[in-house]
Amino acid sequence: MAIRVLFPYNPLNEKEADGPFCDEYLFLREMGMECSLFDYDSLSFDEFRPKPRIGNGDVVLYRGWMLDPITYVKLSNLVERCGGQMLTDPDNFLKSHHLPGWYDSVAQFTPETILVENEEEAVLRAEKTGWEKFFVKDFVKSNYSERGSIAYSPQEVLEIIALIREHRGEIEGGIVLRKVEEFVSESEVRYFVFNGKPYSPNGFVPHLVAEIAKLHKAPFYSIDVVERTDGELRLIEIGDGQVSDRKNWDTDIFCKVLIEADPLKIKNI
Ligand SMILES: Nc1ncnc2c1ncn2[C@@H]1O[C@H](COP(=O)(O)OP(=O)(O)O)[C@@H](O)[C@H]1O
Ligand SMILES: [Mg+2]
Repeated sequence: MAIRVLFPYNPLNEKEADGPFCDEYLFLREMGMECSLFDYDSLSFDEFRPKPRIGNGDVVLYRGWMLDPITYVKLSNLVERCGGQMLTDPDNFLKSHHLPGWYDSVAQFTPETILVENEEEAVLRAEKTGWEKFFVKDFVKSNYSERGSIAYSPQEVLEIIALIREHRGEIEGGIVLRKVEEFVSESEVRYFVFNGKPYSPNGFVPHLVAEIAKLHKAPFYSIDVVERTDGELRLIEIGDGQVSDRKNWDTDIFCKVLIEADPLKIKNI
């Protein structure tokens, strides 16, 4: 399988990948992996001229800023028009990127979650739960403003939904109310799974991560795990690996995950 990694370019220097992806781009190229750069902003105008071009039969792995589901379908179609194919098809993208895509298969490992479509339903369902606190987010992200994402009443649930709308312009997918659990601060670690194999930033893969890697089937995704105050490891969220921040992963350790999946291109791991 020959993988081509596709990065958004830096608008100020089209020969480099944008922001945090630049280090990955430089490292992967150095290691002999095929990489292309493209103009992220012109995707919305259906313009797509990656450099170097996508070759016939290339399997394309995107590494870049988050894409909404419609734009991901667009990218996937544009890649196909160039003769390539996304490693992660649009269905698999949503399976990892949106909470309802992954929740059912791993529900036992993550805080109990209620999916709702709108504000009205959020209040009705919140009132029925009997929970004292609610962690409120949309299908992708929590509330990033100082107010945070924890509501202490159905009214506060509305307040947080309004803040998410205000700061991000829209609710992506739908709203979720999650039962609040107590976690050990700073204990969250991000893992990646490629082709069913779990990878760790520090060489240690907890049993929980190995279990989730067996249950959630998608080509490339991230798993965020945190320690609960009773010592149990809990899943916070799964994310699509293409648009997941590297967090505390060193560039070379992260890139080796991608290189290992592309054995034809390995020069020297
Ligand atoms: N159910 C929960 N109970 C308590 N804290 C939570 C809960 N869900 C998330 N958190 C905390 O909030 C942070 C952000 O939540 P997360 O679901 O990862 O949203 P985001 O997609 O914005 O990163 C997590 O890293 C975790 O510390
Ligand atoms: Mg998170």
